[in-house]
Amino acid sequence: NEYQIAVIVGSLRQDSFNRKLAHAMVKLLPPGFSFKQIQIDDLPLYNQDDDSNPTEPVKRLKAEIGAAHGLLFVTPEYNRSIPGVLKNAIDHASRPYGQSAWSGKPAGVLGVSVGAIGTAMAQQHLRNILAYLDIPTLGQPEAFIQMKEGLFDANGDIGTDSRKFLQNWMDRYITWVEKHVSGA
Ligand code: FNR
Repeated sequence: NEYQIAVIVGSLRQDSFNRKLAHAMVKLLPPGFSFKQIQIDDLPLYNQDDDSNPTEPVKRLKAEIGAAHGLLFVTPEYNRSIPGVLKNAIDHASRPYGQSAWSGKPAGVLGVSVGAIGTAMAQQHLRNILAYLDIPTLGQPEAFIQMKEGLFDANGDIGTDSRKFLQNWMDRYITWVEKHVSGA
C-alpha cells in the first residue's frame, strides 16, 4: 500500500538548494511512502484562453497531482514571495474552474534560503494560496531553513545538525497526510 507524495520544487536552477533539500528528504520517508518529483520547467505561461485545449505538460501536471496522496512544496523565496514558476504551476493545475487538481490534498511547506529568515515570507504567501485552493496544510512544525555549511553532508543527505529537526518535521507531516488520506 504505497502512498505517493508529489514534490513541487519552486526553483529551476541546476544546483538549487531547494531541490537538494527535496532529494535529501526522501531518505527521511517511512516505508510505504514515496516521492514523485513534479516537473514544472516545461509548462507554458498560464493563459486562460488555453483552458479548453491544454498542452501535454499541463495534462501531465494535472494527472500527477491528481494521482498523489499528498503534496510537498519546497521553495525558495524570491523578493519576499514565491517564485513565478511555482505560481505558474499552481495556477495551471487549479483550472479550468471547478476542475482543480489540488482540492483536499494534504500538504507540507519547506524552504531553504541563503538569507536568515529562511523563506518565511514566501511560505506565508504560499499558505495564503494553498488555503484558497482548499489544500489542508500542516501548520506546525514550521521549517525555515538557512543554507549553511553542513546542512547537507558529503552524500547530499541532511547533515547531523539538522537531521533530528527535519526527521521530526517529516514524521509530523506523514501523520498529517495519513490523517487526510484515510478521510478521518
Ligand atoms: C533571491 N533570494 C532571496 N532570498 C531570500 O531569503 N529572500 C528573498 O526575498 C530573496 N529574493 C530573491 C530574488 C531572486 C530573483 C533571486 C534569484 C534570489 C536568494 C535566494 O535565497 C537564493 O538565490 C537561493 O539559492 C534560491 O534557491 P535555490 O534556487 O538555490 O533553490
